[in-house]
Amino acid sequence: MAAQSLEQIVSLCKRRGFIFPGSEIYGGFQGTYDYGPLGVELKNNLRRLWWKHNVYERDDMEGVETAILMSRWVWKYSGHEAEFSDPMVDCKTCKGRFREDKMADAVCLKHSKLHPGECEGEFTEPRPFNMMFKTAVGPVPDPESFAYLRPETAQGMFVNFKNVLDSTNRKLPFGIAQQGKGFRNEITPRNFIFRVRELDMMEIEYFVMPGEDETAHDEWITDHLNWWIDEVGLSRDRLKLYEHPKEKLSHYSKRTVDILYEFPTLGFDELEGFANRTDFDLGSHSRDQDKLGLTAKVMKNDHSTERLTYFDQPNNRHIVPYVIEPAAGVDRGCLAALCEAYDEEVLENGETRIVLRFKPALAPIKVAVLPLARNKPEIVAAAKAIKNMLQASGDLRAVYDDSASIGRLYRRQDEVGTPFCVTVDYDTLGQSRDGGTELKDTVTIRDRDSMKQERIPISELLAYVKARI
Ligand code: GAP
Repeated sequence: MAAQSLEQIVSLCKRRGFIFPGSEIYGGFQGTYDYGPLGVELKNNLRRLWWKHNVYERDDMEGVETAILMSRWVWKYSGHEAEFSDPMVDCKTCKGRFREDKMADAVCLKHSKLHPGECEGEFTEPRPFNMMFKTAVGPVPDPESFAYLRPETAQGMFVNFKNVLDSTNRKLPFGIAQQGKGFRNEITPRNFIFRVRELDMMEIEYFVMPGEDETAHDEWITDHLNWWIDEVGLSRDRLKLYEHPKEKLSHYSKRTVDILYEFPTLGFDELEGFANRTDFDLGSHSRDQDKLGLTAKVMKNDHSTERLTYFDQPNNRHIVPYVIEPAAGVDRGCLAALCEAYDEEVLENGETRIVLRFKPALAPIKVAVLPLARNKPEIVAAAKAIKNMLQASGDLRAVYDDSASIGRLYRRQDEVGTPFCVTVDYDTLGQSRDGGTELKDTVTIRDRDSMKQERIPISELLAYVKARI
């Protein structure tokens, strides 16, 4: 079972420290969220899995981290200044401002149970609303001294195409990967972390010879669809592909396909997009465009100092590569993983337990070490030593907890998705009440999903846990 409503997830995230509303003690700040102690672990795990799959495990990828603040010319020639907008309408009755194509996500300011358009409100004609945030730059107030906060990480990779190519001696096809913040002044930020104004992105720009773009496009879609299923644990039934109609493509795209996930309450909506950006971006950011033989229509660039081309040695010519772009939202990835993992299980004794059935690699905490008797110093000391031993392995998060009874501690760990609980008891110390010593230096390890427990030697614990992560 997955979550049945977004409310279940919002409530769990707040209660257990995954995600909090931004600036909450000042009444909140719309479209922003803060990731708490468990949320930051989940987010880091998702980013790490993506980086490993897309950078480390391939031979044709490089990673970068580029600046959020960029020259404003970047956004002029990328087309964002003119095109990165949503259609906005104003309601003449309630004075609300809404995204025309997302009325179903919005609420009328006068009637909180109605969507705009379901009330008596009259709307203005739709007009474009540019979603880039502007910020002042430099110490002297000057209307010309501003920069945009980047709405996508992609342009940082395009403007560095030559730098990466020259410093790595890559041959086509190869790609650049980046993770980082993007900022969008969404007209209607809604649905928890699904649509926010400050978002985390994981993007790839994959450069290919023109003519090899369509095959590469399909390969990336298949590869990432499998990644969401195999590594993030999303169910195939809750994923589908959506082909953007030609007339609705972004200004840079020849073809775009989205992977949609079936979020509770929202239904199927975008998780990741795959655009064939052709030679649009590299061409747009180049000088001497008329000499490049571009296929995309671009704006004449008077500011760039570079030609973003590739020398095609076999044919002794300079070409502008085509680009395939897989672009995913980290926040939406976390939301999908949370919704998929959520389960309410009725136990034999009639109680219901909430359990997050994360893939172990995604779980914020991998192991919780729990003393059976928290008033026995020798058991507490042994449990703390085992926690430290696990933590010393360096690459997993282990915690020690003695703040409640063992049953309650298990429930708490189930609710945050911890795959393993280790219990330290009298037998661990060789002090079992019947006087036996054969269980000395062993612990019980409990599996989150089956709730089955087995007894294993402490010396095998780390290998046992690592093998299952
Ligand atoms: N460079 C291409 C690009 O930015 P996009 O489809 O606009 O493409 C990529 O964004 C991904 O970022 C989306 O598939 C979605 O997962 C996520 N995303 C976009 N806008 C978002 C928002 N306001 N809040 C949360 N995630 C968002």
